[in-house]
Amino acid sequence: MFKYAALLAFVSVVTAQSQLYGQCGGIGWTGSTTCVAGATCTVLNDYYSQCLPGAASSSSTPTTVSSSHSTTTASSTGTSSAPTSTATPAAGNPFEGYTIYLSPYYANEIALAAGNITDSTLKAKAASIANIPTFTWLDTVAKVPDLGTYLADADSIQKSTGQKQLVQIVVYDLPDRDCAAKASNGEFSIADNGQANYFNYMDQIVAQIQKYPDVRVVAVIEPDSLANLVTNLNVQKCANAETTYKACVTYALKQLSSVGVYQYMDAGHAGWLGWPANISPAATLFTQMYQAGGSSPFIRGLATNVANYNALTAASPDPITQGNPNYDESHYINALAPMLASSGFPAQFIVDQGRSGVQNIRQQWGDWCNIKGAGFGTRPTTNTGNSYIDSIVWVKPGGECDGTSNSSSPRYDSTCSLSDADQPAPEAGTWFQEYFQTLVSKASPSL
Ligand code: GLC
Repeated sequence: MFKYAALLAFVSVVTAQSQLYGQCGGIGWTGSTTCVAGATCTVLNDYYSQCLPGAASSSSTPTTVSSSHSTTTASSTGTSSAPTSTATPAAGNPFEGYTIYLSPYYANEIALAAGNITDSTLKAKAASIANIPTFTWLDTVAKVPDLGTYLADADSIQKSTGQKQLVQIVVYDLPDRDCAAKASNGEFSIADNGQANYFNYMDQIVAQIQKYPDVRVVAVIEPDSLANLVTNLNVQKCANAETTYKACVTYALKQLSSVGVYQYMDAGHAGWLGWPANISPAATLFTQMYQAGGSSPFIRGLATNVANYNALTAASPDPITQGNPNYDESHYINALAPMLASSGFPAQFIVDQGRSGVQNIRQQWGDWCNIKGAGFGTRPTTNTGNSYIDSIVWVKPGGECDGTSNSSSPRYDSTCSLSDADQPAPEAGTWFQEYFQTLVSKASPSL
């Protein structure tokens, strides 16, 4: 009996050891705090310790990593050199002096789309979109290796042309993603190891970026996530996700800062957090997250209007803005930036204008799904006319769908069947040809 019990105890110790890159500690962690041979349990932040490659410690006490650089060195694939040029950010606007790398993923979508257009004028206009930079959405872990390909490509372009390259990414894979809607629910769930999966996703991104220290990377951090924590905690899925979202975003901010990525946390838009009742709690949360991220100067600021349709500067308030003094993105940013600055977060902004070319096309300001009659908007530029705004950008790749209108889909959100939503629409993120063609024909400025 004693022998049997001893054997059981032995087996449980052996099987309980965390795998390489597995979680081994952190607030709320009840699993093993030891790692398999060849890995060391390393404290990455209060919420997460991870088994990283390195001499196995005989002790189960996690090793504290004090410098973010040593964290990423430890989690590298071993094939790359540690970043040296990124310890301190360049002063000023990270977009200045750089050529934005054109996403091959989007270029491929555009080539296929243009190929399906018969009208030669429209076809040429459609094809020209491939030359306008958008962001690459890393919306599944399976897409992360593509980032390595793009960085290698950008690195070689930079070396051959002498033009400094900037790669734009969106990190978008939180567990229980899109907690207040359904259309963009993601691959990870909190109940099924989501936080550890997210950390692994982030580690893979960092490992790619670390290999190309000469290429500048700008990232938008997790569209909708923090905004949902400001206004949607009455939604059970959001309330349940609050701690995990914060832990994952904190991890992203720290890890990306350690490899010199210039980051903009997603800040919803004027019609969401720009309301007087929301803007102050929003400022508080963004400042808290900035501080949780170590107040790194690589946390450059906030991104607004991502995948939305608001004007940067409206000629007059759209009637749907119903008296909100922050009736466009400029007003929202001009109100929010000083609040952040006074709480210690000197935030700069980028603003998505990819699909904002046509205004006054929505029934309600909260409508976000494949809005009918939208056109491509102002082209990306650092000539923004607003000292808070680093660049006008195109974050949402226009032509990729916001959400399906098929009511039998598990990701069906009824917003995508509203009268101002273009239908029939395919799954979020997949190509929506008819919608793309409208964006092209209604582009303002025209293509
Ligand atoms: C939506 C989709 C996502 C896609 C993104 C950009 O959020 O859910 O998969 O990458 O839009 O088109």
